[in-house]
Amino acid sequence: MTFYQGQSLADAVREATAVLTDAGVPTPRVDAELLAEHLLGVGLGRLRAMLLGDAPAPDGYGELVQERAGRVPLQHITGVAYFRYLELRVGPGVFIPRPETESVVQLVIDRVKGMPNPKVVDLGTGSGAIAGSIAHEVPGAEVHAVEYSTFAHAWAAKNLEPLGVTLVQGDLRDALPEHNGTFDVVVSNPPYIPAEAIPTEPEVALHDPPEALYGGGADGMELPTAAAASAVRLLKPGGYFVMEHAEVQAGWIAGMLQRTGRWNDVTTHFDLNGKERATSAVLASAAPDE
Ligand SMILES: C[S@@+](CC[C@H](N)C(=O)[O-])C[C@H]1O[C@@H](n2cnc3c(N)ncnc32)[C@H](O)[C@@H]1O
Repeated sequence: MTFYQGQSLADAVREATAVLTDAGVPTPRVDAELLAEHLLGVGLGRLRAMLLGDAPAPDGYGELVQERAGRVPLQHITGVAYFRYLELRVGPGVFIPRPETESVVQLVIDRVKGMPNPKVVDLGTGSGAIAGSIAHEVPGAEVHAVEYSTFAHAWAAKNLEPLGVTLVQGDLRDALPEHNGTFDVVVSNPPYIPAEAIPTEPEVALHDPPEALYGGGADGMELPTAAAASAVRLLKPGGYFVMEHAEVQAGWIAGMLQRTGRWNDVTTHFDLNGKERATSAVLASAAPDE
């Protein structure tokens, strides 16, 4: 489809904004601009300057707008997701990293500040957003990442190889047994959505991989519980575990960690929107009956 051919860029972006608004896209103007920028490759500042003049709409713009109007995620169309300081390669088969996860990375960075060579593992790394950010922002860190899905693992490999992260394909329940008891930090944003809570946004329901969303069991807590058990296995005594979760799960997760008797300092953390979206804990020196 070439319905923007011959139009000015400004008119095309205005029309695209209307098309995306009608399709229910939450940020229609920004998406219309980012799709044009993706084709022109000039950066958003220059694009906005071009919108003030009489530059023509780029070839192929109509097709991309139609795709986005079909609620294909913007990041699948552009192939890029921005996360903290990273530009990650993403596409079908991998979870698009979310802004709230940036706060989880900050908790890890604050924790390892001053440690000479912290050893960190990210369980369920997806695109590699968490592991890659820690490797990028913490000089001297030894960062490992685990991912089960073959597709996601392939995307993670693209993103993590240049950052020196050691990536393995495996199950977070039993991965890295050779590293048991050696990590300073275990971080995870596991799947945690309950089986019946199908997300309403088409971008999530139809395009995020199901294995990245549903945590297992009616309450979605199977994989988060397994991640916590693996953290007990992988951490040194005094090591730090931090996990992202849904706001409504904060109390349950804190209770689950406390009931094991293996954790001190169980703490719920807020994201930038003031929602309780992560819980951390410090591994006690030994099991109560050891
Ligand atoms: C919610 S996504 C988070 C991805 C990434 N950490 C992020 O924050 O953007 C959960 C990830 O865990 C992976 N996963 C699901 N089950 C797993 C398992 N048993 N072992 C390892 N990874 C798993 C999924 O494939 C997905 O990439």
